[in-house]
Amino acid sequence: MKIGILNGGGDCAGLNAVTRAVVRKSDEYGYEVVGIRHGWAGLITLDAVPLTWNDVSHIINLGGTILHTTRTNPFKTKEGPDQVLRNFKQLGLDVLIAVGGEDTLSVGAKFSQLGLKVVGVPKTIDNDIVLADVTFGFDSAVNVTVEAIDRIQTTAESHDRIMVVEVMGRHAGWIAAYAGIASGANLTLVPETPIDISEICNFLKKRHDAARMTSIVVVGEGCNLKDYPTTDQSKIDDFGHARLGGIGAILAREIEKRVGIETRAVVLGHVVRGGSPSAYDRILATRLGVAAVDAIKNQTYGIMVCLRGNVMSHVQLTDILGKMKNLDAETISLLNDFTE
Ligand code: F6P
Repeated sequence: MKIGILNGGGDCAGLNAVTRAVVRKSDEYGYEVVGIRHGWAGLITLDAVPLTWNDVSHIINLGGTILHTTRTNPFKTKEGPDQVLRNFKQLGLDVLIAVGGEDTLSVGAKFSQLGLKVVGVPKTIDNDIVLADVTFGFDSAVNVTVEAIDRIQTTAESHDRIMVVEVMGRHAGWIAAYAGIASGANLTLVPETPIDISEICNFLKKRHDAARMTSIVVVGEGCNLKDYPTTDQSKIDDFGHARLGGIGAILAREIEKRVGIETRAVVLGHVVRGGSPSAYDRILATRLGVAAVDAIKNQTYGIMVCLRGNVMSHVQLTDILGKMKNLDAETISLLNDFTE
């Protein structure tokens, strides 16, 4: 049995822990593993390396991915799918483990429909993959965000400022919500709840009128403010996503103008995606890597292994296509309860 493994989409903490688990579990079963570099691009250009026990030593703690990643979509070009199928054969692969978010997994689902044996592993700091209770990378990103906000809080207090902290997460508010709740932010704005700039300013004005000199506002990058575009339409990726970012600066400018308190914006961005995985993410990623190899042993293909109710489980890859996991009602209500 020869297994290929690739990482697609934005990196996140825990990717190396999956690679390590796949190699180690495969070794136990006598399977070979080949690392495909730079995501689906590696199957177009034949960029692959054998992975052995030693290659994955001491990488469980490493952020990023030793395999590298891209947002390449092989279905973007007419010849892409055939190139991938041809190179899959050329490498002598029997099965492919695709580790990625909805985009990467949707490509996996398409190849599975074309007859390739594919097992998907969900990853993303955004935590927005349907049918996966949690994705690895999310816990690490939230921890770094909370640490950063704790630091921002002390400088904000010293200067009696309002600080707007913009975080990643695309069109789901998981990072914003969890970090906002865990850091005790005064106001957390998520894409799931429409934002009204006057309401935000009234809320902050009331706080400051009540002699609260500092406010922390957390905002998810995917929040929409009417009349203020926060997507860069000149930067569209292979999957049709526009680059997000900029809402923090817009909000800070408007708040300062309308509330009359000095307001600064901080964009945490890629800082929270890099660095070492948390212990939770190392373990989740290890469990998923093992589950993927076990699925191969059981000849179960066309699936995504995932955590459901703290149990390793799997769902059909086709069941996640084109869907996104948004904040649930309980988290939104918790956010509202702790807006103060
Ligand atoms: O999907 C993960 C993510 O980190 C999003 O939260 C963010 O919008 C995007 O990737 C950023 O991607 P890039 O690294 O290509 O700028």
